[in-house]
Amino acid sequence: MEHIRVHDKTFVPFLTANQISDRVAAMAAQISKDYQGKRPLLLAVLNGSFMFAADLFRLLTIEAEISFIKIASYQGMRSSGKVVTAIGMEQDLSGRAIILLEDIVDTGKTLHHFIPTLQQQHPASIAIATFLHKPEATVFPLSLDYVGFSIPNRFVVGYGLDYDGLGRNHYQVYQLAAEPTIES
Ligand code: XMP
Ligand code: MG
Repeated sequence: MEHIRVHDKTFVPFLTANQISDRVAAMAAQISKDYQGKRPLLLAVLNGSFMFAADLFRLLTIEAEISFIKIASYQGMRSSGKVVTAIGMEQDLSGRAIILLEDIVDTGKTLHHFIPTLQQQHPASIAIATFLHKPEATVFPLSLDYVGFSIPNRFVVGYGLDYDGLGRNHYQVYQLAAEPTIES
């Protein structure tokens, strides 16, 4: 594996395709065990999670459903500010065991604000499965039930994750290369 260029930046190899597939398989095994007989509904958050979702989902050994959502936030009518909603949630979620699938949890803002919207539909349970987590960056309280890899607070691309639209189409995950330091 060599470094890659995405737009104006250089990225270096970080997680190999084998590391990723082993870890995703382990997550799928754990979810299959935990959700036996519960017929969970996986809600994959677009765009970044599509690759993780496809790989994880096909490795589940239990009955499960999947649906794809896009989280959108807009300024609400009231002074309470941002309303976080999702496009693609036509299904009835009441009584369902929901597993949200994310590519990466960074500050935690997106999911922290979206979960109350989900709760309004009275699902039986809500769990979060994220491929990557940046613990140093997470400031919004969230309980993450399944984490693929905890990674340093550095920008990554590949395996569905993008830098300004590009870089999603790699089996590997790449990390932003350190800026060259100027020797004094
Ligand atoms: P929050 O802060 O809401 O952010 O947890 C989650 C969203 O931020 C994007 N994000 C990244 N995307 N490489 C990416 O390609 C990264 O290193 C990265 N960090 C955050 C991403 O869209 C995620 O859903
Ligand atoms: Mg995302």
